[in-house]
Amino acid sequence: MARLLIVYASKHGQTEKISNFISAELVQMGHFVDIFDVESIPETVSVKNYEGVIIGAPVYVSGFPAHLKKWVKSHSDILAIKPSGFFSVCLGVLENDESAQRDERHIVQKFFNETNWHPKQWTIFAGSITYSKYNWFLKRIMHALAKKSGTDTEYDHDYEYTDWNKVHQFTENLLHDLSGPR
Ligand SMILES: Cc1cc2nc3c(=O)[nH]c(=O)nc-3n(C[C@H](O)[C@H](O)[C@H](O)COP(=O)(O)O)c2cc1C
Repeated sequence: MARLLIVYASKHGQTEKISNFISAELVQMGHFVDIFDVESIPETVSVKNYEGVIIGAPVYVSGFPAHLKKWVKSHSDILAIKPSGFFSVCLGVLENDESAQRDERHIVQKFFNETNWHPKQWTIFAGSITYSKYNWFLKRIMHALAKKSGTDTEYDHDYEYTDWNKVHQFTENLLHDLSGPR
């Protein structure tokens, strides 16, 4: 059984929800999991004590939260020698347009180049629109963003687009890496 670390950033809760889902699956399979929001990860947590690391982050204005980027960059040496995986959470991935898909992949590749961490496993999950947590201004922006993706939304609902089967598959792929030759 492996000891695993999950670190995530999340402003409106969807990346946290996905991280908790992955953690629950791993625990159910008998693994030991420590899970932290990057904003409150204790200094005493040492990546070298884990056999694998999973990092998740949401896309905000075509990039990932600065705090998470900083944490990954400062741990890139140790992350490079561990089985590790990354998931991005965004809405652009819902667009059918190939150039929008390319843009989302480009955001991830730019993050890898900037942090000097290049995990073997990475993926992009569709996130959520949580009107209940947005202010007036953000509601209008997100409504327009959803429309661009071909989705008609209403302000009095929250919308979750995450494909949980895809999250499950990602977890399986990571475990496969962990059990494979290093
Ligand atoms: C202010 C704001 C900016 C966003 N910018 C982008 C973006 O540039 N590209 C994108 O695909 N999704 C964007 N999104 C959608 C978020 O990535 C999506 O809602 C995600 O589920 C948020 O994750 P979280 O709940 O963990 O914070 C944006 C959302 C907000 C509220």
